[in-house]
Amino acid sequence: MASMLMCFLIFFGATLAAGFSDTQPKPVPGLSYTFYKSTCPELEWIIRTYLKKEFKKDIGLAAGLLRLHFHDCFVQGCDASVLLDGSASGPSEQDAPPNLTLRPAAFKAINDLRALIDKMCGVVVSCADVVAVAARDSVALTGGPHYKVPLGRRDGLTFATVNVTLADLPPPTSNVSFLINTLNKINLTVADLVTLSGGHTIGLAHCTSFTNRLYPTQDTNMDKTFAKNLKLTCPAANTTNSTVNDIRTPNTFDNKYYVNLVNKEGLFTSDQGLFSDFRTKALVALFASNKILFFEHFALSMVKMGQISVLTGSQGEIRTNCSARNSGSGLWSVVEDLLEQLLEFPCRPQSCTHWIPIHQVKSSSSSNLEHALHLSRFG
Ligand code: HEM
Repeated sequence: MASMLMCFLIFFGATLAAGFSDTQPKPVPGLSYTFYKSTCPELEWIIRTYLKKEFKKDIGLAAGLLRLHFHDCFVQGCDASVLLDGSASGPSEQDAPPNLTLRPAAFKAINDLRALIDKMCGVVVSCADVVAVAARDSVALTGGPHYKVPLGRRDGLTFATVNVTLADLPPPTSNVSFLINTLNKINLTVADLVTLSGGHTIGLAHCTSFTNRLYPTQDTNMDKTFAKNLKLTCPAANTTNSTVNDIRTPNTFDNKYYVNLVNKEGLFTSDQGLFSDFRTKALVALFASNKILFFEHFALSMVKMGQISVLTGSQGEIRTNCSARNSGSGLWSVVEDLLEQLLEFPCRPQSCTHWIPIHQVKSSSSSNLEHALHLSRFG
């Protein structure tokens, strides 16, 4: 009987998973898999080499970088707005409660990478792209799938308010309906929800993220021994301690998160609910029994998440410091707009003579701006 049920779950899960395309997703307009081929061919090597070295000292950084990308993309798209410090205009996304537990080491790693990349290539790579590649490499270097990410994102000029950030990042106490609705608003499916939640196969959580399931009464949907051990780490609801997200293999990116859920050893309400709700249970069972399938779908959902509301072309800017908007970028974009209006018939780069790489003139240039400036000089 139990094996029949498992067969049914796996069949139903396979049907849900079939909603995915099995080919490399087509990048959204403006992004490409070869974006920095000529301007920064060393980009992926620089990031991977740096992370390999840093992970030897602190493997937890991988989880921090993966979560940073998720928190960037869910709030006004993958535009590195989560990296912006607060300003005179108000507190930034970083001040919103869900972001208070983002790891400082992850922010530092992005800034360190920014400096290394600038040295090798000039300021041509966006902070949003650095975050996306760092998240991808964090998955691969902890044992997860290797996949390509489309690049060419631009950095946002603004950050979201604390209230918007709070509304866009679902809390760990969410039930499945709430999660489905939240993801639906940004065109992510039920299957994406189950798949991306698999990110909780690495990293840590503070007691306050799950003590709602321990106190005042214990969640009946939690394994009793698991709950007993969690209570040792979190003797009261507001303890500041933390514990691992995945009790089986805490630092390895694998499918054990789903095995935990099948065994009622999921940490958050939002995790364990995925194995109770009829819309998500089958896919959890399928991923628990098939790591390769989970990896394939995780790669696809990450590429999808990584393209949410991206800025491309002449939108936004390439920040020189990931924590702050470029100074004078407002004035620069006015100049850019004016030049674009003045120049009605820009030539294509390959048909222009005397073409010069404009990043030597202004490092945060967009391709339109390069055009406009080139024409104004040599037109
Ligand atoms: C679906 C809704 C999600 C909820 C409600 C949620 C919630 C949380 C919470 C509460 C924590 C622990 C924070 C703390 O107490 O310190 C956490 C950690 C983490 N989350 Fe999620 N998360 C979700 C989705 C995701 C996604 C989509 C990813 C990536 C694909 C992700 C990756 C991580 C990682 C890697 C950690 C560990 C971070 C670290 O150790 O620094 N989460 N999440």
